[in-house]
Amino acid sequence: MSLQGKIAVVTGASRGIGRAVALRLGSMGAQVLVNYVSRPDAAREVAAAINQAGAQAEICAFNVADTEATTAAFKKILDDHGRIDILVNNAGITRDGLLVKMEENRWDEVLATNLKGAFTCTKAVSRAMMKQRWGRIVNISSVIGFVGNAGQANYAAAKAGLIGLTRSMARELAARNITVNGVAPGFILTDMTKNLSATISEKIRSEIPLGVLGTAEDVAGAVAYLVSDDARYVTGQFIHVNGGMYMG
Ligand code: NAI
Repeated sequence: MSLQGKIAVVTGASRGIGRAVALRLGSMGAQVLVNYVSRPDAAREVAAAINQAGAQAEICAFNVADTEATTAAFKKILDDHGRIDILVNNAGITRDGLLVKMEENRWDEVLATNLKGAFTCTKAVSRAMMKQRWGRIVNISSVIGFVGNAGQANYAAAKAGLIGLTRSMARELAARNITVNGVAPGFILTDMTKNLSATISEKIRSEIPLGVLGTAEDVAGAVAYLVSDDARYVTGQFIHVNGGMYMG
């Protein structure tokens, strides 16, 4: 599954799932643009690890919720490299709370990053991919987007929104040999989930048929498949990486 000669952008790649995806795409030979918003040191470490493994990588700072900055960053990437072949919309945040108590800004923040951010990045690469007549876009949704979760109305709405965005873009771009798919992780051990109480973690684990929590690498494996030639006939689909927690 060689990605030699391909340029890949992974948003939110300085840690967690994005980091694992960036490393994996690098290991498949892609040149990886490691996006980060606030931790250049962490992003540099990811790029260095990719370089050390023999592939090329560089870091690029932009906040996916900032349309102007994101659009400008993608323009620069296209000016510098002439193409973008792979986009992984991974950047995401949580601002949990019950809906009755949820401040409007917490709703807006989550939607702006998790959903509108993916729209902005996808829009920024689509024209170039259409000209190339080749592209792979992967959106990182969540099991929560499929089943909902008390205390995560904003997150669930954004992640469910990504399902509609994925399928619509898959239909719009298919004629140009661009596939648009998603991965819906279940409960993955990362910084995003590490602060859950032992009781909640245990409760979630008890609902996972495979009996263990997932790793960022488990998600990266699904992304690797979706961007590979093996998945050339797969579009508008979601791979559930959740230990059987939800069987869609
Ligand atoms: P994380 O919190 O470790 O990493 C998220 C990354 O996104 C961070 O590097 C952060 O700096 C970046 N980011 C946040 N806002 C950004 C913005 N506005 N612009 C650019 N980058 C931004 O979380 P994790 O677990 O690695 O999550 C990655 C993705 O996977 C997220 O979209 C998350 O919703 C999704 N996911 C995670 C699950 C889990 O159990 N950890 C389960 C299902 C989905």
